[in-house]
Amino acid sequence: MSNKKVLKYGMVGGGPGSFIGGVHRKAAKFDGEAKIVSGAFSRTYEKTLQTGNKLGLEEDRLYKNYKEMAKKEASRADGIDFVAIVVPNKFHYPVAKEFLNQGINVICDKPLTVTLDEAKELEELTRKNGLLFGVTYVYSGYPMVKQARELVQSGELGEIRVIQGEYPQEWLAEPVEKEGNKQAEWRTDPGLSGSANCVGDIGTHIENTVAYISNLKIESLAANLSIFGKGRELDDNAEMLVKFENGATGSFWCSQVAVGHDNGLKVRVYGTKGSLVWKQEDPNYLELSYLHKPKEILSRGRDELQPTAADAVRLPGGHPEGFYEAFSNIYANFTTALKDKKQGKKVDPDHYDYPDVSEGVQGVQFIETCLESSDQNSKWIDLN
Ligand SMILES: NC(=O)c1ccc[n+]([C@@H]2O[C@H](COP(=O)([O-])OP(=O)(O)OC[C@H]3O[C@@H](n4cnc5c(N)ncnc54)[C@H](O)[C@@H]3O)[C@@H](O)[C@H]2O)c1
Repeated sequence: MSNKKVLKYGMVGGGPGSFIGGVHRKAAKFDGEAKIVSGAFSRTYEKTLQTGNKLGLEEDRLYKNYKEMAKKEASRADGIDFVAIVVPNKFHYPVAKEFLNQGINVICDKPLTVTLDEAKELEELTRKNGLLFGVTYVYSGYPMVKQARELVQSGELGEIRVIQGEYPQEWLAEPVEKEGNKQAEWRTDPGLSGSANCVGDIGTHIENTVAYISNLKIESLAANLSIFGKGRELDDNAEMLVKFENGATGSFWCSQVAVGHDNGLKVRVYGTKGSLVWKQEDPNYLELSYLHKPKEILSRGRDELQPTAADAVRLPGGHPEGFYEAFSNIYANFTTALKDKKQGKKVDPDHYDYPDVSEGVQGVQFIETCLESSDQNSKWIDLN
C-alpha cells in the first residue's frame, strides 16, 4: 500500500498515564492504515506536549484544547481524516459534536454519550454531514465472537431461547478512587461519568456483544443497580432481566466489586438445537454443544471458521490473540470504510462490520433504561 493512502488521524484524550488512548494508537498502527498526526491529549497543554513529543508529532499539531484542534485541522489542506475520542464519558458528546460540525469523521469510545438525547443528536449530525462514526465496542472485533454471530444468525443453534451475559470485575471492591486511581476517580464521579458507572462502563459491553452475536433487539428490561462502595454516588454492581423481540429471555450481570474477577465477560446463547459459550479471558476458543452430540471446542487459527471470522484471524492457532488484535480489527474495518468513502464510493456502515454510531445510540438507550427501571423498584420498561 502506498503511503499516500495512509489515513491521518488526531486524538483527544490519551495523555500521560491514561488507559485506552494507547490501545487505540496501537490498534490504528497494526495494519499501517492510519497515522497519528495531531492531538489534544489532555486538558493540560504541557501534558499534551509531553505525549505529542513522545509520539514524534509536529508541535504545530499539538493543541491547547479540542475546539482549537477541530477548527485548525479542518482548515488545513493536510488535515486529519478522522479523530479518535478517548476522554471520560461526559466529554464524548461535546468533543464529537465539535469535530462532526467541522466535517471530520469520528471514532469514539463507549458509552457514546451520557444521555440518549445527546446520542441521537450525534447520530443525526453524522448522517446529515455524510460522515462516518465508529464506536469502539471492542468485543465485536474478536474472531470467535464473529464466529458465534455467524452460527446464531444462520440458525445453526435453532430458535434462540435464552441469552446469559456477565461481566464481573473486582477493581472497585475497595475505594481505590480515594487512593489516586485516576480511572476510578472519574468513573465514580457523576460529573464525568454520567448517571451510570458500572452499567455504563461494562454493562454496555454485555448489551453490545449480545446484540452483535444474536441480532435480537431487547424489547423490555428490569434492572437492579446497587452501590456497595461506601460514599459512592454511582452503581458498582447491577443485574438486569431482559426480554428479546423474538420471545427469548435472558439475564445480564455486571459488577466491579466481584472479588476474584479481572475482566470476566462471558456470553452464553441457548437455542432449540444447540448452545455456545464465549469467554473474553479465553477468547481464542468457542464452546459449542448440539443436542445428542459430544461437546465441541472450536479453536481460532486451527479450525475452519466462517469467512467474517476467518478474515479477522491474524495468527495461527495456539499463538494467543486478544484485546489489541480485536481493537485493531475494529480499526481495520473502520479505516477500510473511510478509504472507500474517500474514493467516492457510497458507504453503508452495516456492510463494513464495525460498530457504528447507531450501535452507540442503542447502548445509551440500554443504559438509560436500566437507570429508569432501577429507580422505579426494578419495574419492567419497554425499549420501543
Ligand atoms: N472499549 C473499551 O474496551 C474501553 C476500555 C477502557 C475505557 N474505555 C472508554 O474510554 C474512555 C477513556 O477511558 P480511560 O480508562 O482511558 O480513561 P483515562 O482516565 O485513563 O484517560 C482519559 C484521558 O483523557 C484526558 N482528558 C480528559 N478530559 C479531556 C479533555 N477535555 N480534552 C483532552 N483530554 C482530556 C485525560 O487527561 C486522560 O489522558 C472512557 O469513555 C471509557 O469508557 C473503553
